[in-house]
Amino acid sequence: MEQKILERPAGAAEDWTIPQDWTSYTADEHAMWDHLFDRQAAMLPGRVVPEFMDGLDVLRMTKPGIPDFEELSERLYKLTGWQVVAVPGLVPDRLFFEHLANRRFVAGRFIRRPDQIDYLQEPDIFHDVFGHVPLLANPVFADYMQAYGEGGLRADGLGAIDNLARLYWYTVEFGLIRQGGDLKLYGAGIVSSYGESVFALDDPSPNRIGFDLRRLMRTRYKIDDYQQSYFVIDSFEDLLRQTVENDFAPLYRELESQSDLAPADLLDSDTVIHQGTQAYNRTKELP
Ligand code: PHE
Ligand code: FE
Repeated sequence: MEQKILERPAGAAEDWTIPQDWTSYTADEHAMWDHLFDRQAAMLPGRVVPEFMDGLDVLRMTKPGIPDFEELSERLYKLTGWQVVAVPGLVPDRLFFEHLANRRFVAGRFIRRPDQIDYLQEPDIFHDVFGHVPLLANPVFADYMQAYGEGGLRADGLGAIDNLARLYWYTVEFGLIRQGGDLKLYGAGIVSSYGESVFALDDPSPNRIGFDLRRLMRTRYKIDDYQQSYFVIDSFEDLLRQTVENDFAPLYRELESQSDLAPADLLDSDTVIHQGTQAYNRTKELP
C-alpha cells in the first residue's frame, strides 16, 4: 500500500502531535469509554494474556473515564520509558516509525459515536489506548515496539514498508500467543473489539498458524473485516529475538521474487494449529 501524501493538519506540531485537550471531553464521551471498557474488561480475563490485564492495572487504566495522556504517560514512562502522545489521525509512515523508535506511541484523541460501538475502520482512542497501551508496560513488548519503529525507518530506505507492515498487522494488531498450551489474545485490534475477541479465539472459521516471519511477510491482510488467518507466537521474548536478531534486508530482497499469499491461504510448510473452515467469509461472499 503506497501511502498517499498526507498534509499536516493546522494546529499540529512539526511531529504532527496535538494537545489531547483532556478537559474538553464531554460526559457522554467519558461514558462511551466506560461502556466499552467495562464490556471488554468483563470478557477478556482468561482470553487475553495476563500481561495485558497487568498493564491495565499498573497504569491505573481501571479508573473510570477517558485516560488523560499526561497522567498515563507519567506512569508508563516510569515503567518502560514510553509515552502516549495525541495526533489528529493517520500520520506519515516515517513519522509514525520515528515516534515508535523514540518510545512515543501516537494515539487518536477522538472517541467513536454511539452508532459506531461495534465497528469503525478508523482507530479511535479506545482502540489506540485500551488496545495498545497496556502491553507497553511490559518490558519485552515495549522493546519490540521500539525495535519495530527502527526497523520501519530502515524498511522505508529499502522500499519494503509493505512487507514490514504485515509484521505489525499480524503481531501488534492481530497477534495470538500460546501460553501453557492455550491460545491467548494480545493484538490490539482484537482486544479492542468485542466481536473479534471471541471470533479470533473460538470461531472455527479462521486459520491459526504458527508464527513464521518470512511466511507472514508475504501474507496480505484485510482491513475491513475479521481476519482469515491469525499467527501464533510462542512468547514475547521469542518474537523479540526472532525480529531483532534477524537482518531483514536479505529477507526483503528474497521476498521481491516471491508471490504474495492471500489472507486465507495455507501452505504445506505451515505449522497449522487450526485449519479454518472459512465459513464466516463464505457467508459474506454470497450475492
Ligand atoms: N531486524 C529488523 C531489520 O533488520 C528490524 C526489526 C526489529 C523490525 C524488530 C521489526 C521488529 O530491519
Ligand atoms: Fe492499532
